Amino acid sequence: MAAALPALERAAQGAKVGAVLDFLRRSPTKLLIDGKWTAAKSGKTFETINPANEEVLALVAEGDKADVDEAVVAARRAFEEGRWRTITPHQRGRYLLRIAELIDKYADELAELESLDNGKPVAQARTIDIAGAAGIFRYFAGWPSKIYGETNPSDPGMFNYTLREPIGVCGLIIPWNFPLMMAVTKIAPALACGNTMILKPAEQTPLTAIRLGELLQEAGIPDGVVNIITGFGPGAGSAIAEHPGIDKVAFTGSTEVGKLILQASAGNLKRVSLELGGKSPNIVFPDADLASAVKNAMTGVFYNSGQVCAAGTRIFVQRDIYDNFVADLTAASERMTPGNPLDPQTRLGPVVSREQFDRVLGYVTAGRHEGARVTIGGEAVGGKGYYVKPTIFADVRNDMKIAQEEIFGPVAAAIPFKDEDDAVLQGNATTYGLAAAVWSRDIRRAHRVARALKAGTVWVNCYGVTDTAMPFGGYKQSGFGREGSRHVIDLFTQIKSVYVKL
Ligand code: NAI
Ligand code: MG
Repeated sequence: MAAALPALERAAQGAKVGAVLDFLRRSPTKLLIDGKWTAAKSGKTFETINPANEEVLALVAEGDKADVDEAVVAARRAFEEGRWRTITPHQRGRYLLRIAELIDKYADELAELESLDNGKPVAQARTIDIAGAAGIFRYFAGWPSKIYGETNPSDPGMFNYTLREPIGVCGLIIPWNFPLMMAVTKIAPALACGNTMILKPAEQTPLTAIRLGELLQEAGIPDGVVNIITGFGPGAGSAIAEHPGIDKVAFTGSTEVGKLILQASAGNLKRVSLELGGKSPNIVFPDADLASAVKNAMTGVFYNSGQVCAAGTRIFVQRDIYDNFVADLTAASERMTPGNPLDPQTRLGPVVSREQFDRVLGYVTAGRHEGARVTIGGEAVGGKGYYVKPTIFADVRNDMKIAQEEIFGPVAAAIPFKDEDDAVLQGNATTYGLAAAVWSRDIRRAHRVARALKAGTVWVNCYGVTDTAMPFGGYKQSGFGREGSRHVIDLFTQIKSVYVKL
């Protein structure tokens, strides 16, 4: 029967929102440059796949250096002509609010599109990704009118003040795990600060970024302010990283590519901010609310099929409670069965791509070879789709590959520790430093451990909670720069000091 269906309907099987099929049928094979949707100069396209059934959802324009060049010219012109940076801060804020309203208006469509392209459960896409994206625009809508300069105490014969100005043309390179939310996390503050930009979505998940481009136009964002180039890392991505006409790159993705971006930035000394990988420790002391710790350890590592930069992948449990905790965690995880992402009941979808599927299963094999013990999962679901069963490894040593390398799949490593010092020592024994958590009812211990952990975010008695009002970013090789909060304003502005002789 399935063979009789046209390809698109087969790929998007289960889609309930008519607008999603309309969007896919419109064949979004275009780049957004200077307010116009145009094919890649090379004429090339690439496939974006539904990870739940491995079918082709759409062909997308494969932008490369030539297209980036054109987008840079457009973004530069829009910047220099002041199409965006010179409108009043209040007006800029109103535009951002309008975008938030449009995201809300099309939320069901966006959620389904995100779910189809990425494989994440549609219910989570709706409440976390899409609602989150609207919230981020709302948060930053308040900022344009609150980006202050200073007057400085200088010589009485002089008057010194500062202006906080946009940086210019920004390159925004994002990954596939929270496609729309990652785009918005960078676009919203970049716009709030008056910059123009070129967004490159991940090749695995370009669709919601393209739809967002349409919404930006609907909101009336002037041409050339936001340009969108779909394509691959080594093509479009590296062209952005190297481009002498781009003033700043904000990147989220692997540490490996983060290093390449930093090297490429040297050509014109671009400002760079990097939000990279993690191998975050989630540390459970015996005096914690253990039921809550079990539940959050599970969601902390399996949420979004483990494809979260801040996932609590190393679960450290004090030795006396280790066996019971692992047994409870395993039992709780039995209820986390992977299912069709478009089913509103589904809590765990497939991983994003064949590449990621192979990579995750490769780590599972490595864990077994190193002598860790699988308590649940440890294999693919089988059949169509990139489904991996939630997997817990017990008896893990912190120096094992599965405890040191970012897996980015539904795979947890449970590691015993002796005491507080040992927990901190092992927790910090990683090249990463994105996030960490501590579970304890002893507030002195909780704060002590929070201070001792080398991570950009430390959760106490919770896991994975975020808010745009909170700074988020890495220590060590998890990157630098803080997104969210007032600190991201620093990343998208520069300070000019003006001296006036009185
Ligand atoms: P990646 O780092 O290669 O991709 C992220 C973005 O960078 C994509 O838009 C990609 O097209 C672009 N890119 C790739 N190579 C580039 C280059 N040379 N110059 C400029 N841009 C480039 O991540 P990938 O390959 O999708 O996933 C591999 C691993 O990276 C994952 O298994 C995971 O461990 C980690 N990762 C971490 C993320 C995070 O949020 N920290 C997000 C995605 C992946
Ligand atoms: Mg890559």
